[in-house]
Amino acid sequence: MAAKPNSIPLLTPYKMGNFNLSHRIVLPPLTRSRSYGNIPQPHAVLYYSQRTTPGGLLIAEATGISNTAQGYPETPGIWTREQVEAWKPIVDAVHEKGGVFFCQIWHVGRVSSYSYQPNGEAPMSSTDKGVTPGLDGGDWSPPHRLRVDEIPHIVNDFRLAARNAIEAGFDGVEVHGAHGYLIDQFMKDQVNDRTDEYGGSLEKRCCFALEVVEAVVNEIGADRVGMRLSPFADYMETADSDPNALGLYMANALNNYGLVYLHVIEPRMVRMGDKLESPHSLFTMRKAFKGTFIAAGGYRRDDGDKAIEEGYADLIAYGRVFLANPDLPRRLELNAPLNKYDRNTFYIPDPVVGYTDYPFLEVPA
Ligand SMILES: Cc1cc2nc3c(=O)[nH]c(=O)nc-3n(C[C@H](O)[C@H](O)[C@H](O)COP(=O)(O)O)c2cc1C
Repeated sequence: MAAKPNSIPLLTPYKMGNFNLSHRIVLPPLTRSRSYGNIPQPHAVLYYSQRTTPGGLLIAEATGISNTAQGYPETPGIWTREQVEAWKPIVDAVHEKGGVFFCQIWHVGRVSSYSYQPNGEAPMSSTDKGVTPGLDGGDWSPPHRLRVDEIPHIVNDFRLAARNAIEAGFDGVEVHGAHGYLIDQFMKDQVNDRTDEYGGSLEKRCCFALEVVEAVVNEIGADRVGMRLSPFADYMETADSDPNALGLYMANALNNYGLVYLHVIEPRMVRMGDKLESPHSLFTMRKAFKGTFIAAGGYRRDDGDKAIEEGYADLIAYGRVFLANPDLPRRLELNAPLNKYDRNTFYIPDPVVGYTDYPFLEVPA
């Protein structure tokens, strides 16, 4: 027999800034490598609308802010007119079903190679130390250390990408400060080896991140800006020696800009896809941050429910299980079995297989 709606904490409504969410289950950004030539494709209409519920929050896959922002095949962008136009039907489809849709905007920094860069140039970073070639199967090239006078151009690209996202119809943007990409490469002391105003102390290492946030907030308004962070993670050789201090500093600093949400990866996800034991918790960041707090990483129904019930987080993002279960909120509501995800199809270019062909639950609505 079907459980009553709102019978579990994950299914309770929540007001995130100006957005009235009907439940706490978030689709986090998931790169799917099916945006040929960096253009969002019509098949994404079905993919995202399958995962939309009225009043549900979705965050689109990492989306490049410029022609230097890419490091993986067929990832979408939002810096050209064509890309903005291509996003519109996808955003419209989510809105037609009542979803709230944010766009994650990113720059990969050094997690790239000459082949992804205009004119085969070097990727850019906070450092000139490259990612070990071959790590995670990528052919990473040594980066060019951004000069101080080049940094405002990147900040401006984030600003323009945010403007474009709003023009495409998105409800807001999520600044991608997680997972070892450009912003993380500035924040973390095991990558950032600068001696200028963007390196050295914790405050200086976070300067670039906060300049990006400030520019984006000034452009589209704080009520439409969230940020994703992973202080504890060590993806793409980007770790920090004091992740608790980094996380707390950023949570406090972001309060100055009034961001609508902060979306943080659990310490247990030190490495992509692995759930490890960790003595750390996000609770200090959660308590410090005044807006909506989203936790992500390795959640299932029980611990998601518990996190909401105990006030550990306001919303819970489910990555791989939402990828494989388009009707995840309904399945969690009913405590129904979940489809297993197939990691072999996460990043293949097929417009259907492993993308829109995961089955829905066969129960009467
Ligand atoms: C296929 C795949 C693509 C991902 N792409 C992104 C991305 O574009 N941006 C991002 O911030 N995180 C990305 N992630 C991380 C997820 O958003 C999420 O944080 C991670 O999968 C942990 O949550 P889970 O244990 O619920 O899957 C990706 C993860 C997977 C499995």
